[in-house]
Amino acid sequence: LIMAIYRILTLLLATTAAAEEFGPFTKDFVKFMQRNPERNEYMLSAYREYGNDGTFGGRAKDETGEISHHPVVFVHGNSDSALHHSEIATGWTDSVHYFKDHGYNVSSLYGLSYGSRNISDSMHNSITCRNLVGLRRFLEAIIAYTQTEKVDIVAHSMGVSLARKAIQGGMVVSLDQYYSTPPTVTSQVDAFVAIAGANYGMCMCLQDSLKGEAACGQKGFGPGTCGKSEGTSDQCGDEDEECEEDDYASILRQINNGTKEATFLASLWSKDDIVVGKNNLVWGRKTSKVPYSDYTHAYSGFTHFQMKNETTADQFNLVTRHSRHPLRSKRNH
Ligand SMILES: *[C@@H]1O[C@H](CO)[C@@H](O)[C@H](O)[C@H]1NC(C)=O
Ligand SMILES: *[C@@H]1O[C@H](CO)[C@@H](O)[C@H](O)[C@H]1NC(C)=O
Ligand SMILES: *[C@@H]1O[C@H](CO)[C@@H](O)[C@H](O)[C@H]1NC(C)=O
Ligand SMILES: *[C@@H]1O[C@H](CO)[C@@H](O)[C@H](O)[C@H]1NC(C)=O
Repeated sequence: LIMAIYRILTLLLATTAAAEEFGPFTKDFVKFMQRNPERNEYMLSAYREYGNDGTFGGRAKDETGEISHHPVVFVHGNSDSALHHSEIATGWTDSVHYFKDHGYNVSSLYGLSYGSRNISDSMHNSITCRNLVGLRRFLEAIIAYTQTEKVDIVAHSMGVSLARKAIQGGMVVSLDQYYSTPPTVTSQVDAFVAIAGANYGMCMCLQDSLKGEAACGQKGFGPGTCGKSEGTSDQCGDEDEECEEDDYASILRQINNGTKEATFLASLWSKDDIVVGKNNLVWGRKTSKVPYSDYTHAYSGFTHFQMKNETTADQFNLVTRHSRHPLRSKRNH
């Protein structure tokens, strides 16, 4: 009997292990990036620093055939992680499971971690040149490695801003530094699913206690006061407010001034995400709606982080079919 229990236990453990077969980057992908260690420094250091839940993607040892899907690149938000790291930094684990269960291999699913994965640090973080250039290099490495014509992007929160600018390329003039990459890779991005981004900033940044924080500054998500002498966070989120004069974070204005990032651009948000703002409003605009979106959808009842794990089927359908509905519409690739 003990032997039988032992066998069942081993079998169960083996099954669990098989289901968790992603993260970190595969040896094959790491080897590819090590051929050009300077250019790929950002990805290689993420691989070294963050451990098994910090990166994912690449061909498995036994995988030699052609990669059959466009690679999907997942870009997490402030203080999150590539894969499940802690109760709050839950990463893209649920999405990766969903895509895997629906025919994707890890050779078509990519992600890495950046910054601190501790939510206590989140207000100190802003959009940095290092993360923009690094993410751009990551996209370039994936395109070269998989020899694909197109990639798809699924991004959450601050990851939306990072991915948009990494794709747009060009220059960012920040307060004390600038960064420049060759212009756009937009023609190489098929679907971009932008989840709970803050493209016009976040009203909570107008609270006195948060005003001075990096996350609320010119390289972060300050919504500005639209030329009004006194802008409170309540006014900012009021549906009757309008913006007469844009003065939201300079980095966001530069990104919103750029080109459309993908062939198919979808923006998703929750009316009840109090991080981004109740009803998603910032001075009369839906802050999660990326300019030129082909598709938008507002959910009810989901928190900022639930917008990742409760929308996995929609992420999949938007990426593969350019529609949130599995049976409607086309898509050949
Ligand atoms: C996934 O990898 C297996 C081998 O590991 C291969 O047989 C299969 O064709 C791959 N599927 C896709 C969708 O790439
Ligand atoms: C996160 O940061 C806070 C404040 O710096 C610290 O007290 C806490 O231990 C950190 N948590 C983890 C999991 O490292
Ligand atoms: C927006 O783009 C135009 C043309 O590319 C440029 O002249 C202008 O300065 C930009 N504005 C901002 C706020 O970046
Ligand atoms: C998503 O995460 C939340 C909180 O972590 C949890 O309560 C919920 O059940 C999860 N939803 C799904 C579909 O896994």
